[in-house]
Amino acid sequence: MLTFMEELKKMAALEAVREIKDGMIVGLGTGSTAKYAILEMGRMIREGVEIIGIATSVESERIAREAGIKIGDINDYDFIDLTIDGADEVDKNLNLIKGGGGALLREKIVANCSKKEIIVVDERKIVDKFSFPLPVEIIKFGWKRTSEKLSKLGFNVNLRHRFITDNGNYIVDCKYTSLKNLKEIEEKINNIPGVVENGLFIGLADEVIIGTSEGIKKISR
Ligand code: A5P
Repeated sequence: MLTFMEELKKMAALEAVREIKDGMIVGLGTGSTAKYAILEMGRMIREGVEIIGIATSVESERIAREAGIKIGDINDYDFIDLTIDGADEVDKNLNLIKGGGGALLREKIVANCSKKEIIVVDERKIVDKFSFPLPVEIIKFGWKRTSEKLSKLGFNVNLRHRFITDNGNYIVDCKYTSLKNLKEIEEKINNIPGVVENGLFIGLADEVIIGTSEGIKKISR
């Protein structure tokens, strides 16, 4: 039996999967909400639909393979038709914070190559103002020095304990009092040597599907 929140996540994920058509190249997100979408795609495949999945993490690839989804290499496709992924927070402009699960780098590459990016969340993820600590993927070499540079941008920086990304890097979670001028801060973070990518997804989501206690809600760009 799923909890109420799990039901909301599943509801959003299943609604997004309805947009998948036979023959599509589909980006497979990471996290507990995206997992429901992957499992549903597996069910569709058993009914005869053909899709190729591009995984955003080792874990999503494992779940997808188990579900019977063929996994493709992103290098073999000029673009991805549709990606379904989760998020940690979503603002009213469809900007996102992602990376709670540590998969932000591959998620951002896949989102950036997708014709359509659908984000699936339960209603708790919709916020007026971001507060989720911003995950930033940094390389191991000089990680303390890189963290100091992030602190100078005004963040309270914490190394994620005992965590290595699928790309062999560290994640630091950056707390803040308020996050303004998102594009500018995203650029400043990514300009620090040692930073690989950060979890701000600005202008990448085309549609957000929200599982709420009153049913499905959608916000589109
Ligand atoms: C993974 O790195 C994240 O970006 C996830 O998309 C995010 O953490 C959402 O996960 P849940 O659906 O489990 O909340």
